[in-house]
Amino acid sequence: MNRSEAKVSEGEGRGVGGGEEGRGVGARVELYEKIWMWGAAGLVVVFIGAVVYTAAAGAVHPPSHVETIDPQTARTDPRFASPGVTERPDGTVEVVLLAQMYAFLPTEIRVPAGRPVTFRMTSPDVIHGFQVVGTNANAMVMPGYVTEFTVTFPQPGEHLIVCNEYCGLGHHVMHGKLVVEGEAP
Ligand code: CUA
Repeated sequence: MNRSEAKVSEGEGRGVGGGEEGRGVGARVELYEKIWMWGAAGLVVVFIGAVVYTAAAGAVHPPSHVETIDPQTARTDPRFASPGVTERPDGTVEVVLLAQMYAFLPTEIRVPAGRPVTFRMTSPDVIHGFQVVGTNANAMVMPGYVTEFTVTFPQPGEHLIVCNEYCGLGHHVMHGKLVVEGEAP
């Protein structure tokens, strides 16, 4: 039975491809095949639509921040000479941070809950990861570049910060702590 089915589809295949016979356009396509074709085409449209929609309505863009820095002098660069948390005049918070073998500087970060926190970080040595466990704050820290992103932590609490890019023998001990302060809304 399987064999005869295979033969049938073989025959159809020739029919579709047989343009020289002038029957290509009217070739019969099985219903289930049509369903898959339209389903797949529909998915492609949905995916592209989702990308366009989130880019336009949600301002979701791929990271394109290309602020550079010399890793050799990153520790003394004015932008990173004094890592830590500062409050900006507009009420937002900025965290300047160095990720290096094998620690985050500062190790402990205290930020307020419910306010936008902008992280600015770089690495003076190799690629590190910066992941605040349990949140969507997660970025790569690359030597030569300044990684910047803004995130709001709605709930107070303590989070572990881990390096999630293998950076050497001490990778597994590279961690920090983020304390989100404030009252639960
Ligand atoms: Cu730093 Cu792994």
